[in-house]
Amino acid sequence: MAGPYVGTRDFFPEEMNFRNRMFGVLRTVCESYGYVEYGAPLLEPITLYQSKSSEEIVNDQVYRFIDRGEREVAIRPEMTPTLARMVSSKIMELVRPVRWYSIANFMRYERPGKGRLREFFQLNADLMGPATPAADAEILSLLIDILTAFGAKASDFKLRLSDRRLFDSYVKHSDKEVLRGIGRLLDKREKIGDEAFQEELSKIADAALAKKVNAFLAINVSDLAELGKSGAIDGGVADHLSQVIEILSAQGKSDFVEFDPGIIRGFDYYTGLIFEIQDSHPDNRRAICGGGRYDRLLGQMGKQEVPAIGFGLGDVTLEQFLTIRGLLTQAPEKQGCYFILFPETRDSSLKIANDLRRAGILVETSLDTNVKIGKQMEAADKKNRKFVLMQGGDELSRGVVRVKNLGSGEQFDLKPEELAQHLA
Ligand code: HAM
Repeated sequence: MAGPYVGTRDFFPEEMNFRNRMFGVLRTVCESYGYVEYGAPLLEPITLYQSKSSEEIVNDQVYRFIDRGEREVAIRPEMTPTLARMVSSKIMELVRPVRWYSIANFMRYERPGKGRLREFFQLNADLMGPATPAADAEILSLLIDILTAFGAKASDFKLRLSDRRLFDSYVKHSDKEVLRGIGRLLDKREKIGDEAFQEELSKIADAALAKKVNAFLAINVSDLAELGKSGAIDGGVADHLSQVIEILSAQGKSDFVEFDPGIIRGFDYYTGLIFEIQDSHPDNRRAICGGGRYDRLLGQMGKQEVPAIGFGLGDVTLEQFLTIRGLLTQAPEKQGCYFILFPETRDSSLKIANDLRRAGILVETSLDTNVKIGKQMEAADKKNRKFVLMQGGDELSRGVVRVKNLGSGEQFDLKPEELAQHLA
């Protein structure tokens, strides 16, 4: 029998339950910081991504087609260009800082594998307003709080950060094409390993440049201030980065972050701080999250340049992160009621069920009065209901409903008007 399209997933109710609980935690933490939810279309004109997203995504990964009206459209591979379009279209009305989040699905034509699919979900949280160290620290702090809200500890992951401008300012090379090539190579370094990286590097950079690249990769966070002062790297960038780390330290979050000059991020729109979250577990090697500051993208979409920073947190790697550690895996609690029907009292039972739903109680009813009571009890239990309700001829004549607590086995009778309060 045919399964779902390659690299996509069916979500059976149990998986959907996990997904909803996972997304529930994301929502709660985002909203605790004052982020509000938005939504957007699945399709966009391909031009939204051209020269604004990443070359690799536009050339190799985007699902694109011509619609019936001869327009070239794309299934969204990411949210950032859409978000920039939306925010810049209303920028005069929005109160800044704008704090928005969404949980949506995306498609990329990638080779499916561990942690990589063709359809995946991302939480996108973005902050548009002043480009201060406090803004950068807020986004990173939100991200750390999301993972700790699931019960993760500092030893479970590393938030690795750098700044887009550091590399250019340190290497000071005039050929932008060579720099882009090195950037792409750096982006692959983790995947291909250092030996292959050095070999590839020697093909695109002469010995002096290759040495400089390696010296760049060896920079420590403690070197930043000194390198900034001496002019070896951009002093303003070094100071900004140090302040971001200081703010996080004051919140007790320094154990979660690590300066890593090798972080490059393959998107054209990033202009400043860039970061990724890596699971410390060797079985979940792909990044859980990636993000950065993009101060010019909104200007490219509208009239006004508005600094922005945000991240995309993927559901595939997040789910692996959680399940490897047994987080969020507890079986869902028993809830609601299952009303068993008898032929002679069907209509009365269905009416009581209906009244209970109006009172906010989850009630599922059997639909076939001929099914044996034992089988119906079994169904109620398998469906993880907390109570079974029954009203046979005897109960009806006494004006009560029989309630069985499936957890404790306890049974008792209640008047229909007493049910809602008791079951809630
Ligand atoms: P990204 O690094 O392409 O960034 O994606 C962010 C996260 O989405 C990844 O770390 C990964 O968890 C997940 N992800 C991406 N592609 C796949 C895939 N094929 N299968 C499974 N998971 C995947 C962005 O998309 C930026 N737009 C994020 C951003 C928001 N930057 C600023 N604001």
